[in-house]
Amino acid sequence: MTDRLRTFVRSIYTEILLRTRLGNYCLPRWRYNFTAPQLIFLCSCLDKTKEVPGSVVEVGCAIGSTTVFLNKYMDAENIEKDFFCLDTFVGFLDEHIEYEARERGKSPEFYRTSIFQLNKKEWFDETMKLNEIKRVQSIQVDASEFDFSKLGPISMCLLDVDLYVPTKKSLCVIYEVLHKDGILIVDDCDPDCQLWDGAWQAYREFMDQLNQPIHIVLDKLGIIKRSG
Ligand SMILES: C[S@@+](CC[C@H](N)C(=O)[O-])C[C@H]1O[C@@H](n2cnc3c(N)ncnc32)[C@H](O)[C@@H]1O
Repeated sequence: MTDRLRTFVRSIYTEILLRTRLGNYCLPRWRYNFTAPQLIFLCSCLDKTKEVPGSVVEVGCAIGSTTVFLNKYMDAENIEKDFFCLDTFVGFLDEHIEYEARERGKSPEFYRTSIFQLNKKEWFDETMKLNEIKRVQSIQVDASEFDFSKLGPISMCLLDVDLYVPTKKSLCVIYEVLHKDGILIVDDCDPDCQLWDGAWQAYREFMDQLNQPIHIVLDKLGIIKRSG
């Protein structure tokens, strides 16, 4: 097919899709769960921990949008480290949803029908391949039961599993393997967001346990450093 024909076919195809609900899928949209400044902040954490021994870990990676962004940044800045991505790849687990309903007064339906329930490890792996990202290793697991010491020291971790139980349980274990100069970032530490405030409660309790002050950056990123 010549370039002109390809462009013509593509424009017809886009025009047709735009007349249907599928139109949303053929134009670029913001697909991140973070704002641009929040993504820039995460990149600055990669910079700060570049020389810190250990791997980068994203706990709760969903379909991989942030994973791709951070890895493209690592490529551009020659940051070469292992990058582990953990997720159930089937969304929130029943026992964790039940806890939100029973102990935290949340609607279980909200979490059971979230977009994160529709995912597969294979789709995530394919996304990495499509983006020519080779350093990422995906692990299908319940983070609250995972032995993070298997990943060796961690230089930077983004913990983004939203609900109280998996955040609370994995925080303690990740902290133990976080390098002394590493950075742990907990997403959704936003007091004003009632739907996703499980992570915020877990973060508050953990900082209290550590006897460290709350440190929130850009509205919702809870920061934890070993040195306080
Ligand atoms: C907000 S999304 C993560 C978004 C991702 N970090 C990004 O920026 O695109 C939350 C993810 O946590 C995962 N998750 C929830 N509970 C989990 C658990 N117990 N163990 C592992 N992953 C979990 C969900 O499957 C979902 O994909």
